[in-house]
Amino acid sequence: MVRWLLVAPALLAVLLAVLRGGAFVVAEAEATCSGIVPMKSREKMVSITDFRGVGDGETLNTAAFESAISHIAQHNAPGGTLLYIPAGVWLTGAFNLTSHMTLFLAKDAVDTWNWPLTDPLPSYGRGRELPGGRYMSLIQGNGLRDVTITGENGTIDGQGDVWWNMWRQKTLRFTRPHLLELMHSTDVIISNVVFQDSPFWNIHPVYCSNVVVKNVTVLAPYDSADTDGVDPDSSPNVCIEDCYMSTGDDLVAVKSGRDEYGIAYSRPSSGITGRRVAGSNPYAGIATGSETIENVFAENLDVFKTGIGIHIKTNSGRGGFIRNITISDVNLNDVGKALRIAGNNHFR
Ligand SMILES: *[C@@H]1O[C@H](CO)[C@@H](O)[C@H](O)[C@H]1NC(C)=O
Ligand SMILES: *[C@@H]1O[C@H](CO)[C@@H](O)[C@H](O)[C@H]1NC(C)=O
Ligand SMILES: *[C@@H]1O[C@H](CO)[C@@H](O)[C@H](O)[C@H]1NC(C)=O
Ligand SMILES: *[C@@H]1O[C@H](CO)[C@@H](O)[C@H](O)[C@H]1NC(C)=O
Repeated sequence: MVRWLLVAPALLAVLLAVLRGGAFVVAEAEATCSGIVPMKSREKMVSITDFRGVGDGETLNTAAFESAISHIAQHNAPGGTLLYIPAGVWLTGAFNLTSHMTLFLAKDAVDTWNWPLTDPLPSYGRGRELPGGRYMSLIQGNGLRDVTITGENGTIDGQGDVWWNMWRQKTLRFTRPHLLELMHSTDVIISNVVFQDSPFWNIHPVYCSNVVVKNVTVLAPYDSADTDGVDPDSSPNVCIEDCYMSTGDDLVAVKSGRDEYGIAYSRPSSGITGRRVAGSNPYAGIATGSETIENVFAENLDVFKTGIGIHIKTNSGRGGFIRNITISDVNLNDVGKALRIAGNNHFR
């Protein structure tokens, strides 16, 4: 009898919620933004070994990746194609993805070798670190639709050491490469992979829309320069959820180009959601700016051993706006400043 009395209010709440259209059910489920890009199951699958890939950690597989991906592009199978990377260490130089594909990493590494140069972004006007071009990202995509990078927590390893040393010794000639850069692309899922030791930023969606980064681990040493986790840049609708990042720079840094180039290009980042993101680095948990940013929502963050928990930044002369930033339920541990809002950032 007593029991029934205790339980009754809850049951009543459920009933009321059901009557009101199931709002109770929605509130109880774990909040998520990942629905903006539905997960695809691909009808067709090819393996990197079908294209003479060798996962021995010594053979250079750039040509295998290029031919597998151009095969996928040419055949354009309905429902898209999954490129399977079996367990092994697959050394490769930079390569481009194509539309309607899934890059699936079983449990091992995709490594790096040579890095061609590419043009600066129009919203930056130059390489971010140095004038002129920049090294092409290890995995790159331009003008794509419907791209998934996923797997069983396989690792994309940038072997960044050599790059961080060049940066420290000031011997770099051009701006360092990212591990993954997608430009002008839409409907992107990056999930269940590990990004490790990027030379520079790890995941850089720029001029993209509808991007989900979920169940992703990003690892780089605490003293590795500029190894940001995810940098949504001039991109609307980016969902970053259930990620662990331990890096040498901001975990999530929302951007929209830089200086007069960013202002002229005029594409804000907006609709950026960060949820259940945990990690540490010497700079900030979440940074926004110093450019034009709006509609950022972040909750359930767990930030530790970090300089600044939340960093909202701009600089005089920047123009534009940073507005409608909502951040809640942040757990900070061993953090220098919980929140910093400042207008004296040069270009960070
Ligand atoms: C990748 O695509 C870009 C165009 O977006 C092209 O300039 C570049 O040569 C391609 N790189 C490789 C390695 O295929
Ligand atoms: C993320 O991981 C959870 C739990 O392992 C899994 O249920 C979910 O499908 C994953 N999400 C994606 C987008 O892969
Ligand atoms: C992948 O890594 C995530 C942490 O980012 C972890 O929660 C998940 O259990 C791992 N999945 C597998 C299959 O190892
Ligand atoms: C503020 O941002 C949230 C997303 O974080 C969005 O849902 C809301 O519509 C925005 N409000 C305005 C006034 O734009």
